[in-house]
Amino acid sequence: MEAGMTREQAWTLLREYNQEPFHLQHALTVEAVMRWFANELGYGADADFWALCGLLHDVDFERYPDQHCTKAAEILPAAGASDALTHAVCCHGYGLCSNVEPEHEMEKVLFATDELTGLIGAAAKMRPSKSCTDMELSSLKKKFKDKKFAAGCSRDVIRQGAEMLGWELDTLLDKTLQAMRATEADVQAAMAAL
Ligand SMILES: [Fe+2]
Repeated sequence: MEAGMTREQAWTLLREYNQEPFHLQHALTVEAVMRWFANELGYGADADFWALCGLLHDVDFERYPDQHCTKAAEILPAAGASDALTHAVCCHGYGLCSNVEPEHEMEKVLFATDELTGLIGAAAKMRPSKSCTDMELSSLKKKFKDKKFAAGCSRDVIRQGAEMLGWELDTLLDKTLQAMRATEADVQAAMAAL
């Protein structure tokens, strides 16, 4: 699938609209997780496209939190993004700030992992290692069930994402944890290089 822009152009666009390290780290994390899932699920040929959708999915959030996904529908096409890229970005807020429904498996993975990567990242910060590389699935499941922990990460959205994909919740938790374990060092290196 065509993105309509290179990774470099996408990064420049992201930086134009985002200054907060927290948002940049989230973008890089979801980019890496989406690439991992593309390879995991047999979409290796489209891995760059999946990754770019992850990188840009929150492009408008820092500057336009009240128009999240709506502004992206203007910003992305104006920057040359393909319809497929714009659709993927807009539908990740389905039911929350967008009525564009995830259709492609990639879009469902993006919807399902966006909040979950936030939950895993918050859980990692609580660990002595400050890392998810030594986090077990059982520990993540406990954090998922603890509604007071990282309450901003919607458990309903994560559950809905697993349902869209036709996966058990545990499968989604397990795979996303694997994805974050495998990519954490690369994301940290990219953040350190900013
Ligand atoms: Fe996000």
